[in-house]
Amino acid sequence: MSFPPAIRRKFWGRDFSSPVMLASGTAGFGEELLDLQCLSGAGAVVSKAVTFNPREGNLPPRLLETPFGLLNSIGLANPGVYHVVKHLLPAAAGLPCPLLINVAGESVDEFADVVSVLEECSVHIGYEINVSCPNAAEGGAAFGVDPDVVLRVAQGVSKVTGRPFSVKLTPNGGDMVQSAKAAVEGGASAITVCNTFLGMHIDWETGKCVIKRKVAGYTSPALLPLVVARVWQVSNAVSVPVISSGGVSRGEDVLQLLAAGAEMVQIGTRLMRRPFAAGELMDEMKKLTGE
Ligand SMILES: Cc1cc2nc3c(=O)[nH]c(=O)nc-3n(C[C@H](O)[C@H](O)[C@H](O)COP(=O)(O)O)c2cc1C
Repeated sequence: MSFPPAIRRKFWGRDFSSPVMLASGTAGFGEELLDLQCLSGAGAVVSKAVTFNPREGNLPPRLLETPFGLLNSIGLANPGVYHVVKHLLPAAAGLPCPLLINVAGESVDEFADVVSVLEECSVHIGYEINVSCPNAAEGGAAFGVDPDVVLRVAQGVSKVTGRPFSVKLTPNGGDMVQSAKAAVEGGASAITVCNTFLGMHIDWETGKCVIKRKVAGYTSPALLPLVVARVWQVSNAVSVPVISSGGVSRGEDVLQLLAAGAEMVQIGTRLMRRPFAAGELMDEMKKLTGE
């Protein structure tokens, strides 16, 4: 790798003029941001998680802003894969950048079942398999903490698609490097590092949590060094590209993650404050590197 890292990237055999991907759950299926002309500077969009059946998600309140970040407990709310195929993917056909579909499940088999249905569409270039959700069928711990389970999920997905897929790991428990290796053994074409960190807010006067489900996923620019370390560890351990996810608020953060070994860099929470964040980060990076 040369330093400073190049802004233009080659990923999954395609040329990307921007390394910035819009992270799952923060950009819908891209169409609203397209309507608002916010996709300039985005290399790719990752969809909201799609499960086999429709999910209402967790009961509200499910978002809480804290002094230094955001707690979210959306609970994979989505209309289910058949609705996505019929109504959301056709609308996403006009996106100016590639789309990846984030897939979640409650059992090992559900991931492949969802991908099988999505295979009839040609709108997306590949998948992001979210193994950070709880494995309801096997005790409720996230799929991603057990490399054997990650291997089985990845093998199942490999069997039903020829498209590339990234496995998105959890930082909450397990050994991310071992899970990443298992994903690659199972056929993953990239690893996304990583999903949100478990967090909680308690009102000290009442002992109550604002977030209905109590424990949530925490995102914050202050988590950047935790993500940089994990990107560095995983990218040194696997042969496939790493997509970073977490902690980005400035152009130099994207560059740092590329320098740590990421091939592409996702932004999520930043988009909620700054819908034009992708273009803003690109401008900052171009100024910093002169590229
Ligand atoms: C409101 C919200 C919803 C999210 N939904 C999903 C999801 O459906 N699937 C997923 O894999 N990650 C989901 N995430 C995690 C993001 O994709 C991303 O990994 C995380 O926010 C870290 O990046 P950031 O620090 O730039 O926000 C969600 C995050 C937020 C804030």
